[in-house]
Amino acid sequence: MLKNFWHACEFSSAVTNKPKQIVMLNQRFVLYRNSQGQVVALKDQCPHRGAALSLGWVKDDSIRCPYHGWKFQADGKCTHIPANAPGTAIPKKACVDTYPVQEKYGFVWLFYGDLPEAERHPLPTIPEYVFSNLHPVEYECTENANYARVMEANMDFAHVIAVHKKSFGQRIPVHKTIEYQVEEDNWSGVATVIYESLGNSKSFLNFLLGGRPQLTTRLSFFLPNFTLSEISIGRDGSFDIKLNVLIAHLPIDETTTVIKRAFYRNVLTLPWLDGFFKKLDYKLAEEDALVVSSLYSQPMPKISQELHVAADALALAYRKLRQKYLAKGWELQSNMSQLDNLNEHQAQASSTSVMNSCVTKTS
Ligand code: FES
Ligand SMILES: [Fe+2]
Repeated sequence: MLKNFWHACEFSSAVTNKPKQIVMLNQRFVLYRNSQGQVVALKDQCPHRGAALSLGWVKDDSIRCPYHGWKFQADGKCTHIPANAPGTAIPKKACVDTYPVQEKYGFVWLFYGDLPEAERHPLPTIPEYVFSNLHPVEYECTENANYARVMEANMDFAHVIAVHKKSFGQRIPVHKTIEYQVEEDNWSGVATVIYESLGNSKSFLNFLLGGRPQLTTRLSFFLPNFTLSEISIGRDGSFDIKLNVLIAHLPIDETTTVIKRAFYRNVLTLPWLDGFFKKLDYKLAEEDALVVSSLYSQPMPKISQELHVAADALALAYRKLRQKYLAKGWELQSNMSQLDNLNEHQAQASSTSVMNSCVTKTS
């Protein structure tokens, strides 16, 4: 897990004036929206007895602890202790940690670390065409796998042939080595692979498109926890089916990841079809989860400990970049005592399945 980055941590639409708990990086956070519409992020732990503030309530832009009602402002300062007479001094230590937050691309981004503002990496730049005239469906689920491993599956061009064999992988023609150029900067990478003549010539889709279409897959990663998959199916550019998936991977601990997926489409955009597309996307996520949770080493091993071929170039770029920041001392160590004490009050991972707690939200 990395510190000193902006982590995508929640759908913007899920944050209201009702406190919302986020579990990530072995910590609890609480988010709420103030009367100006701005998102506030605090540590989800009252300094009095440690109660989860997310079980409390928001009033006058401040959050009240559910246990003894202490009131905390957006800057974390306690301004009222109901058990004390008015005018009683408030202890200086009655203060909660706060975190910078931003909203972009339908997600809330939380900065966790100790880097001065001027030195922080910016949020990703995602072109407008990824969203414009496309209809989204959002949902989340939990995978029993390491977040970096889950993330890697979402930037893996070759896995579709095997992992998604039963759903669509067998339609993808691979006649030559999958190889491509990776464009990278200091914290992200992107690559494109084009497959000619998708599917069989008699399929309904090909009939609609007037022949066997081309499949263009453009995959991007953004440290520390975000990926974008852009999938385009078409023949000559006259009409392309576009499916774009933005995914936030929340590292809960070394073997648990909450994924929040926003799936955009330009076809069959009627809202009543959202359930169908959610199911379709969920099935793919489930196929990934089954295999990724089986990986022998969940924490990402050293690059030299596994084998790599040309098709793995984007994942390798991700590993190298990640390694660069870990070597810089930006690794967050697992704190087991904190982990044991999470006491999440929302559904999280179960030990019996690879995926669970699927929550759908469409917009
Ligand atoms: S634990 Fe929060 S006010 Fe007592
Ligand atoms: Fe996949």
